[in-house]
Amino acid sequence: MNSTPEADWLNLLIGLLQGAQLQLLRVLDGLGLAAHVHGQPAWPWAHRLSGENLLIDLGQARNLAWTLVCVALAVLALLVALLWRRRRFYALALVPMLLIAAPWPDAHVVLVPATPTSFQSSPTGFTAASIAKGRVLYAQNCVACHGADGKGEGPLAASLAVWPPNLSGPLLWRRADGDLLWRILHGTRDAQHQPTMPGFAARLDEGDAWALIDYMKAQGAGQSLRALGNWAQPIGLPDMAVRCGAQPPRPLASWRGQRVRIVAGNAVPTEDPRLVTVLLVPSSTIAPAAADCMADSPAAWEALALIAGTDRLAGTQLIADRDGWLRARGEPGKAGWSDDDLLCRSERAPAASAKNTALPADGLGALIARMDAEPVRFVKGGFIH
Ligand code: HEC
Repeated sequence: MNSTPEADWLNLLIGLLQGAQLQLLRVLDGLGLAAHVHGQPAWPWAHRLSGENLLIDLGQARNLAWTLVCVALAVLALLVALLWRRRRFYALALVPMLLIAAPWPDAHVVLVPATPTSFQSSPTGFTAASIAKGRVLYAQNCVACHGADGKGEGPLAASLAVWPPNLSGPLLWRRADGDLLWRILHGTRDAQHQPTMPGFAARLDEGDAWALIDYMKAQGAGQSLRALGNWAQPIGLPDMAVRCGAQPPRPLASWRGQRVRIVAGNAVPTEDPRLVTVLLVPSSTIAPAAADCMADSPAAWEALALIAGTDRLAGTQLIADRDGWLRARGEPGKAGWSDDDLLCRSERAPAASAKNTALPADGLGALIARMDAEPVRFVKGGFIH
């Protein structure tokens, strides 16, 4: 997506909108003016500024950016008028001119309906355990309509007024996580306010709903890999407990900032100084091989099998970048790496300058160079590779 030159300023604009609204909510909460719902401060208004629509409507995004510039200049002119008496008239005259000149964007594009949980974020940390919890809850509550693969073809689907959406498409990544939470707990309605999906608040709490969101994203990633051969939406490496030698277990996420390679199965991989290597075995009943660092949780095995879209995980290797995004997969039995194994990549051709620099000679080096050169960038309401 960042093949367009707009991506940088658009990212900044969307980040700014999201950040400003979040800070406003924090200030309200700090003053004791925000109610709490589902464990976090609630957004008090029926609307919010939308990042996701701006990704779609570039013209409106540009209008909004220029309007913000004009408003900032108008505020500056007001300050000048206050401080600089002799030029007060000119500075004051500028204010309405700037406000009239601003290309105000359409309110219906920039303002979207909000839910009280729109700005809430997941407390789970995207762990293997929460994905496992979500798997059980999904099978109990959701599979009848959404189907085992999340494509919306469960046995009840055909009898519904609205067909359930394909959860393995970009939908889960476009929505704010907090809006997904609200819809799972309180249901959805169509334009005529008729219920389309029932709410589950009577049966599930917010912890359950956050776990379901983790599970659905992991499942969506696996389905994308099966159908398209890549992770069309970025997916994080689930957190799990890892033991290194005789040290007490530590969370995998504590290596954030370094690249991590997960090797599933029993064959001890050769260490590589460019990566932290963790051997993942299906359960502790398997005799541990002599790896430096190991994870032996059945939940972690299942979570990675789900994300890798396979029933046979043994022999698979997965690489996560320094920010914790899963980027590459080495299939069982395949010797060596190439940058074809990069499954979460931007569509942008390598920059001209990168072409001239000599690529590292080995496959893993080339893969790492490409991974580092194309980081995954996240903006709420849309991921940008
Ligand atoms: C009775 C059938 C039914 C059940 C059971 C059901 N859903 Fe849905 N779900 C739907 C339908 C229909 C839609 C589409 C609603 C719409 O677009 O108005 C939907 C939409 C969704 C969406 C997309 C919401 C959005 O933002 O567009 C999510 C996420 C979702 N369901 C998750 C779940 C989860 C999790 C469960 C289990 C706890 C569940 N659903 C159970 C029928 C169902």
